[in-house]
This record gives sequence, structure tokens and C-alpha cells, in this order.
Amino acid sequence: MLNALLFVMGNLILIGFMGAGKSTVGKLCAAHLGYAFVDSDAVIEAHAGCSVAQLFAARGERAFRRLERQALAALSARPGVVIATGGGAVLDADNVALLRARGRVVLLLASPEAVLARVGEAATRPLLAGALDPRSRIAALLAERDAAYRRAAHHCVDTLQRTPEQVAEDVVTWYRKESE
Ligand code: S3P
Repeated sequence: MLNALLFVMGNLILIGFMGAGKSTVGKLCAAHLGYAFVDSDAVIEAHAGCSVAQLFAARGERAFRRLERQALAALSARPGVVIATGGGAVLDADNVALLRARGRVVLLLASPEAVLARVGEAATRPLLAGALDPRSRIAALLAERDAAYRRAAHHCVDTLQRTPEQVAEDVVTWYRKESE
């Protein structure tokens, strides 16, 4: 009972590549659970006063990653929150340890084709900007990150051929079982 209570006060953290659906699915999960929803990129943008793309361009990826670490630490300290992380957040071992200690981490899986369809021309995604062949760039990044994503996750959910609502229901069903 005490465990369940402590767990209920924890967080649901969504990780995965750009375009995996972390924000869309996260909002739906938050509505199901009665949790608040936060998007770490949005928090960074509010803090920095500019978009993630502008931040990368003006101050570089290192500055962005530093703000990302701070944002994740602050957000995960709040109880009962669904957090949509940026696609590179769990490449940092300290972020992984923090997020796993503060909640349950769910990986949303998507193929390069699905990512490409969802992010479109990717003008707002600095890591894809300027790629001559965005599909290959996505496939390479996904392959490079796959092991880190899986190590960081307590659970994985496939998003292929499924609506955001179906994915959210899977995530919430698993999360609730974890709290029993
Ligand atoms: C990044 C993903 C982006 C954003 C930044 C870096 C990454 O977030 O944090 O552009 O390294 O994959 P989304 O996954 O929400 O697009």
C-alpha cells in the first residue's frame, strides 16, 4: 500500500526519438491519469526565451544540453507529472539515473519512415536541419541511439500503425499495473 502510494506520487516519463509522439501521447496519458503534462523542450524554450532551433544556432548543443539537464531535474522533482523529454535527453547517463529514480520511463518506438512523416521537413529540428537525405540521417541516429534508449526505459511501446490514443492507453495500462 505504501509502495503504491509512493508510486502514485511518481512520474511518467516518455522518451524516444523525435516524432515518436512523446508530446501528443504524453498529453493523452496525463488526461487519463489526472497528472500535469510538461514538455521539457517547451520549458527550455520558455527559460531561454527562444526556440530550441534558435538556441542550438546561437549557443550550441552543449548549452542546450545543460539547460535540458536543469529542466529535467526541476520537472522530475514535481510529483504526479507526465514528462515528454527531448529525443536526446537519455543519452546522458545522469539524466537517465535521475529520471529512473523519479518515475517510470517508457520508450515510444517509431521507424525512420514514421519519424520522417511526422517531423516533415524538420525545419524546427536542429539535428536534422541541412541533412541532404533526412531519412538516412534519421535511420543513422536511431541506430546509434537504440541501445541507449532501451537501457533507459522500464518499458517500450510500439507506435507503428497505432493512433496516439491507442498508444496512450497501452502506456497508461502498463503504468497503472506497475502501481498495483
Ligand atoms: C533532440 C530532440 C528534440 C530537441 C532537440 C534535440 C535530439 O526534441 O530536444 O532538438 O537530440 O533528438 P524532440 O524529440 O521533442 O523533437
